[in-house]
Amino acid sequence: MLTFNQVSFGYPGQEELIQKVSFQVEKGEFLSILGSNGSGKSTIAKLITGLLIPTKGEVTIGKYVTEKKQDLHSIRKKVGIIFQNAEDQFITSTVFDEVIFGLENIQYPPEEMKSCAEAALHKVGMLDFSEHEPHRLSGGQKQRTAIASILAMKPEIMIFDESTSMLDPQGRKQIMQVMKELHEEGLTIIHITHHMEEVLSAERVLILNEGNIVMEGTPKMVFNHSDKLQEYHLEVPFVIKAREGLIKRGFQIKDDVINIDELVESICRS
Ligand SMILES: Nc1ncnc2c1ncn2[C@@H]1O[C@H](COP(=O)(O)OP(=O)(O)O)[C@@H](O)[C@H]1O
Ligand SMILES: [Mg+2]
Repeated sequence: MLTFNQVSFGYPGQEELIQKVSFQVEKGEFLSILGSNGSGKSTIAKLITGLLIPTKGEVTIGKYVTEKKQDLHSIRKKVGIIFQNAEDQFITSTVFDEVIFGLENIQYPPEEMKSCAEAALHKVGMLDFSEHEPHRLSGGQKQRTAIASILAMKPEIMIFDESTSMLDPQGRKQIMQVMKELHEEGLTIIHITHHMEEVLSAERVLILNEGNIVMEGTPKMVFNHSDKLQEYHLEVPFVIKAREGLIKRGFQIKDDVINIDELVESICRS
Protein backbone atom coordinates (compact mmCIF):
# COMPACT_ATOMS: atom_id res chain seq x y z
CA MET A 1 0.00 0.00 0.00
CA LEU A 2 2.92 2.36 0.77
CA THR A 3 6.17 2.04 -1.16
CA PHE A 4 9.51 3.83 -1.00
CA ASN A 5 11.29 2.98 -4.20
CA GLN A 6 14.99 3.95 -4.19
CA VAL A 7 14.16 7.26 -2.53
CA SER A 8 16.87 9.88 -2.10
CA PHE A 9 16.44 13.28 -0.51
CA GLY A 10 18.61 16.10 0.80
CA TYR A 11 17.69 19.48 2.26
CA PRO A 12 18.81 22.44 0.13
CA GLY A 13 22.50 23.19 0.54
CA GLN A 14 23.15 19.98 2.49
CA GLU A 15 24.50 16.56 1.71
CA GLU A 16 21.96 13.93 0.71
CA LEU A 17 20.35 12.69 3.94
CA ILE A 18 18.19 9.85 2.60
CA GLN A 19 20.05 7.65 0.14
CA LYS A 20 18.23 5.17 -2.07
CA VAL A 21 15.89 4.03 0.67
CA SER A 22 13.41 1.31 -0.25
CA PHE A 23 10.71 -0.27 1.88
CA GLN A 24 7.08 -1.24 1.75
CA VAL A 25 4.28 -1.09 4.26
CA GLU A 26 1.38 -3.48 3.78
CA LYS A 27 -2.24 -2.61 4.40
CA GLY A 28 -3.12 -3.21 8.04
CA GLU A 29 0.50 -3.51 9.17
CA PHE A 30 1.89 -2.07 12.42
CA LEU A 31 5.36 -0.81 11.61
CA SER A 32 7.78 1.03 13.87
CA ILE A 33 10.51 3.28 12.56
CA LEU A 34 13.18 3.57 15.21
CA GLY A 35 16.12 5.94 15.12
CA SER A 36 18.03 8.39 17.28
CA ASN A 37 17.56 12.16 17.07
CA GLY A 38 18.47 13.53 13.67
CA SER A 39 18.47 10.11 11.99
CA GLY A 40 15.86 11.29 9.47
CA LYS A 41 12.59 9.95 10.92
CA SER A 42 10.54 13.11 10.48
CA THR A 43 11.99 13.56 7.01
CA ILE A 44 10.68 10.09 6.11
CA ALA A 45 7.27 11.04 7.55
CA LYS A 46 7.21 14.21 5.45
CA LEU A 47 8.18 12.24 2.37
CA ILE A 48 5.21 9.91 3.00
CA THR A 49 2.71 12.77 3.25
CA GLY A 50 4.14 14.60 0.25
CA LEU A 51 5.29 17.56 2.34
CA LEU A 52 8.72 16.77 0.91
CA ILE A 53 9.33 15.31 -2.53
CA PRO A 54 12.21 12.89 -3.28
CA THR A 55 15.07 14.20 -5.37
CA LYS A 56 15.37 10.68 -6.80
CA GLY A 57 13.08 7.65 -6.69
CA GLU A 58 9.42 7.75 -5.75
CA VAL A 59 6.97 7.36 -2.88
CA THR A 60 3.66 5.76 -3.77
CA ILE A 61 0.54 5.28 -1.68
CA GLY A 62 -1.74 2.85 -3.47
CA LYS A 63 -1.97 4.18 -6.98
CA TYR A 64 -0.89 7.70 -6.03
CA VAL A 65 2.60 9.19 -6.31
CA THR A 66 3.64 12.05 -3.99
CA GLU A 67 5.54 13.70 -6.81
CA LYS A 68 2.33 14.34 -8.75
CA LYS A 69 0.63 17.51 -7.58
CA GLN A 70 -2.78 16.20 -8.64
CA ASP A 71 -2.35 13.15 -6.35
CA LEU A 72 -1.51 15.08 -3.18
CA HIS A 73 -5.10 15.75 -2.21
CA SER A 74 -5.94 12.03 -2.32
CA ILE A 75 -2.74 11.14 -0.47
CA ARG A 76 -3.50 13.55 2.36
CA LYS A 77 -6.96 12.04 2.70
CA LYS A 78 -5.44 8.58 3.03
CA VAL A 79 -2.63 9.47 5.42
CA GLY A 80 -3.10 11.11 8.81
CA ILE A 81 -0.18 12.26 10.92
CA ILE A 82 0.08 12.96 14.65
CA PHE A 83 3.04 15.03 15.77
CA GLN A 84 4.94 15.34 19.01
CA ASN A 85 3.06 18.33 20.25
CA ALA A 86 -0.69 18.46 19.64
CA GLU A 87 -0.99 21.71 21.52
CA ASP A 88 0.48 23.75 18.67
CA GLN A 89 -2.38 22.69 16.46
CA PHE A 90 -5.44 23.45 18.61
CA ILE A 91 -7.51 26.35 17.36
CA THR A 92 -10.97 25.99 18.85
CA SER A 93 -12.22 26.24 22.43
CA THR A 94 -13.61 22.76 23.01
CA VAL A 95 -12.46 19.23 22.33
CA PHE A 96 -15.62 18.57 20.32
CA ASP A 97 -15.18 21.66 18.12
CA GLU A 98 -11.61 20.67 17.48
CA VAL A 99 -12.77 17.45 15.81
CA ILE A 100 -15.60 19.24 13.98
CA PHE A 101 -13.14 21.86 12.68
CA GLY A 102 -11.12 19.18 10.90
CA LEU A 103 -14.27 17.75 9.35
CA GLU A 104 -15.41 21.16 8.12
CA ASN A 105 -12.05 21.59 6.46
CA ILE A 106 -12.55 18.50 4.35
CA GLN A 107 -16.18 19.40 3.63
CA TYR A 108 -17.60 16.39 5.40
CA PRO A 109 -21.41 16.04 5.04
CA PRO A 110 -22.76 18.40 7.77
CA GLU A 111 -25.57 16.06 8.85
CA GLU A 112 -23.04 13.31 9.68
CA MET A 113 -20.43 15.48 11.41
CA LYS A 114 -21.76 15.18 14.94
CA SER A 115 -22.02 11.40 14.97
CA CYS A 116 -18.65 11.05 13.25
CA ALA A 117 -16.93 13.34 15.78
CA GLU A 118 -18.55 11.52 18.69
CA ALA A 119 -17.50 8.14 17.35
CA ALA A 120 -13.90 9.31 16.98
CA LEU A 121 -13.82 10.82 20.48
CA HIS A 122 -15.34 7.66 21.90
CA LYS A 123 -12.66 5.54 20.25
CA VAL A 124 -9.86 7.40 22.02
CA GLY A 125 -11.74 7.64 25.34
CA MET A 126 -12.30 11.40 25.09
CA LEU A 127 -16.06 11.62 24.59
CA ASP A 128 -16.63 12.63 28.23
CA PHE A 129 -14.28 15.58 27.68
CA SER A 130 -16.15 16.93 24.63
CA GLU A 131 -16.90 20.28 26.26
CA HIS A 132 -13.48 20.72 27.86
CA GLU A 133 -10.96 23.30 26.71
CA PRO A 134 -8.17 21.59 24.74
CA HIS A 135 -5.45 23.73 26.34
CA ARG A 136 -6.40 22.63 29.84
CA LEU A 137 -6.10 18.92 29.19
CA SER A 138 -3.23 16.70 30.25
CA GLY A 139 -0.57 15.90 27.65
CA GLY A 140 -2.02 12.47 26.95
CA GLN A 141 -5.56 13.84 26.62
CA LYS A 142 -4.31 16.48 24.19
CA GLN A 143 -2.68 13.83 22.04
CA ARG A 144 -5.85 11.71 22.16
CA THR A 145 -7.88 14.74 21.02
CA ALA A 146 -5.46 15.22 18.12
CA ILE A 147 -5.82 11.53 17.24
CA ALA A 148 -9.64 11.84 17.29
CA SER A 149 -9.46 14.82 14.92
CA ILE A 150 -7.46 12.80 12.42
CA LEU A 151 -9.44 9.61 12.98
CA ALA A 152 -12.73 11.37 12.21
CA MET A 153 -11.42 12.00 8.70
CA LYS A 154 -11.12 8.23 8.22
CA PRO A 155 -7.55 7.86 7.02
CA GLU A 156 -6.15 4.46 5.97
CA ILE A 157 -2.67 5.06 7.33
CA MET A 158 -1.84 6.81 10.59
CA ILE A 159 1.66 8.05 11.27
CA PHE A 160 2.61 8.82 14.87
CA ASP A 161 5.77 10.94 14.76
CA GLU A 162 7.17 10.84 18.32
CA SER A 163 3.60 11.33 19.52
CA THR A 164 4.42 9.92 22.93
CA SER A 165 7.75 11.58 23.60
CA MET A 166 6.41 14.55 25.58
CA LEU A 167 4.15 12.42 27.75
CA ASP A 168 4.44 10.95 31.23
CA PRO A 169 4.46 7.13 31.48
CA GLN A 170 0.69 6.92 31.91
CA GLY A 171 -0.05 9.17 28.93
CA ARG A 172 2.45 7.20 26.89
CA LYS A 173 0.78 3.93 27.77
CA GLN A 174 -2.64 5.28 26.79
CA ILE A 175 -1.43 6.42 23.38
CA MET A 176 0.26 3.07 22.78
CA GLN A 177 -3.03 1.39 23.68
CA VAL A 178 -4.94 3.59 21.22
CA MET A 179 -2.44 2.66 18.49
CA LYS A 180 -2.91 -1.02 19.26
CA GLU A 181 -6.69 -0.76 19.11
CA LEU A 182 -6.65 1.16 15.82
CA HIS A 183 -4.37 -1.49 14.39
CA GLU A 184 -6.77 -4.20 15.53
CA GLU A 185 -9.53 -2.38 13.69
CA GLY A 186 -7.54 -2.64 10.48
CA LEU A 187 -5.76 0.71 10.23
CA THR A 188 -2.19 0.77 8.98
CA ILE A 189 0.01 2.19 11.74
CA ILE A 190 3.46 3.70 11.33
CA HIS A 191 4.93 4.52 14.71
CA ILE A 192 8.02 6.69 14.64
CA THR A 193 10.03 6.81 17.85
CA HIS A 194 13.47 6.88 19.44
CA HIS A 195 12.29 4.84 22.45
CA MET A 196 13.14 1.20 22.04
CA GLU A 197 10.63 -0.07 24.60
CA GLU A 198 7.85 1.38 22.48
CA VAL A 199 8.53 -0.78 19.44
CA LEU A 200 7.56 -3.97 21.27
CA SER A 201 3.96 -3.77 20.07
CA ALA A 202 4.98 -3.43 16.43
CA GLU A 203 4.92 -6.32 14.00
CA ARG A 204 8.01 -5.07 12.22
CA VAL A 205 10.73 -2.54 12.99
CA LEU A 206 12.88 -0.50 10.63
CA ILE A 207 15.98 1.03 12.17
CA LEU A 208 17.09 4.30 10.72
CA ASN A 209 20.62 5.63 11.09
CA GLU A 210 21.95 8.70 9.29
CA GLY A 211 19.09 8.60 6.82
CA ASN A 212 19.42 4.93 5.93
CA ILE A 213 17.64 1.76 6.93
CA VAL A 214 20.30 -0.27 8.67
CA MET A 215 18.21 -3.06 10.17
CA GLU A 216 14.78 -4.56 9.69
CA GLY A 217 12.92 -7.32 11.48
CA THR A 218 10.53 -8.28 14.25
CA PRO A 219 11.12 -6.57 17.61
CA LYS A 220 12.64 -9.82 18.95
CA MET A 221 15.10 -10.01 16.09
CA VAL A 222 16.11 -6.38 16.38
CA PHE A 223 16.63 -6.57 20.15
CA ASN A 224 19.07 -9.40 19.64
CA HIS A 225 21.63 -7.01 18.20
CA SER A 226 22.17 -4.80 21.21
CA ASP A 227 25.81 -4.08 20.27
CA LYS A 228 24.68 -2.71 16.92
CA LEU A 229 21.86 -0.73 18.49
CA GLN A 230 24.32 1.09 20.69
CA GLU A 231 26.30 2.00 17.58
CA TYR A 232 23.14 3.63 16.26
CA HIS A 233 22.83 5.64 19.49
CA LEU A 234 19.76 3.78 20.68
CA GLU A 235 19.17 3.08 24.34
CA VAL A 236 18.89 -0.66 24.84
CA PRO A 237 15.94 -1.44 27.16
CA PHE A 238 16.64 -2.53 30.71
CA VAL A 239 15.13 -6.00 30.17
CA ILE A 240 17.54 -6.71 27.32
CA LYS A 241 20.57 -5.51 29.30
CA ALA A 242 19.50 -7.60 32.29
CA ARG A 243 18.90 -10.63 30.07
CA GLU A 244 22.36 -10.38 28.55
CA GLY A 245 24.03 -9.87 31.92
CA LEU A 246 22.26 -12.91 33.34
CA ILE A 247 23.14 -15.11 30.34
CA LYS A 248 26.79 -14.10 30.78
CA ARG A 249 26.58 -15.20 34.41
CA GLY A 250 25.41 -18.64 33.31
CA PHE A 251 21.65 -18.34 33.69
CA GLN A 252 19.67 -20.47 31.25
CA ILE A 253 17.61 -17.77 29.62
CA LYS A 254 16.35 -17.88 26.08
CA ASP A 255 17.74 -15.12 23.93
CA ASP A 256 14.33 -14.00 22.72
CA VAL A 257 13.02 -12.85 26.11
CA ILE A 258 11.95 -9.22 25.67
CA ASN A 259 9.67 -8.35 28.54
CA ILE A 260 9.99 -8.29 32.29
CA ASP A 261 7.44 -11.07 32.95
CA GLU A 262 9.21 -13.46 30.60
CA LEU A 263 12.52 -12.57 32.22
CA VAL A 264 11.28 -13.21 35.76
CA GLU A 265 9.75 -16.50 34.63
CA SER A 266 13.05 -17.56 33.03
CA ILE A 267 15.10 -16.67 36.11
CA CYS A 268 12.79 -18.70 38.32
CA ARG A 269 13.03 -21.69 36.02
CA SER A 270 16.78 -21.33 35.54
N1 LIG B 1 13.87 21.87 7.32
C1 LIG B 1 15.12 21.44 7.39
N2 LIG B 1 16.12 22.10 6.75
C2 LIG B 1 17.39 21.68 6.81
N3 LIG B 1 17.79 20.57 7.48
C3 LIG B 1 16.85 19.87 8.13
C4 LIG B 1 15.47 20.26 8.12
N4 LIG B 1 14.77 19.36 8.86
C5 LIG B 1 15.66 18.47 9.30
N5 LIG B 1 16.91 18.76 8.87
C6 LIG B 1 18.13 17.97 9.15
O1 LIG B 1 17.93 16.65 8.68
C7 LIG B 1 18.43 15.70 9.62
C8 LIG B 1 17.30 14.73 9.99
O2 LIG B 1 16.27 15.43 10.63
P1 LIG B 1 14.88 14.74 11.04
O3 LIG B 1 14.31 14.03 9.86
O4 LIG B 1 14.05 15.79 11.67
O5 LIG B 1 15.38 13.66 12.10
P2 LIG B 1 14.58 12.96 13.32
O6 LIG B 1 13.12 13.18 13.10
O7 LIG B 1 14.99 11.52 13.24
O8 LIG B 1 15.09 13.59 14.57
C9 LIG B 1 18.98 16.49 10.79
O9 LIG B 1 20.35 16.57 10.64
C10 LIG B 1 18.33 17.84 10.66
O10 LIG B 1 19.18 18.84 11.12
MG1 LIG C 1 11.61 13.92 14.34
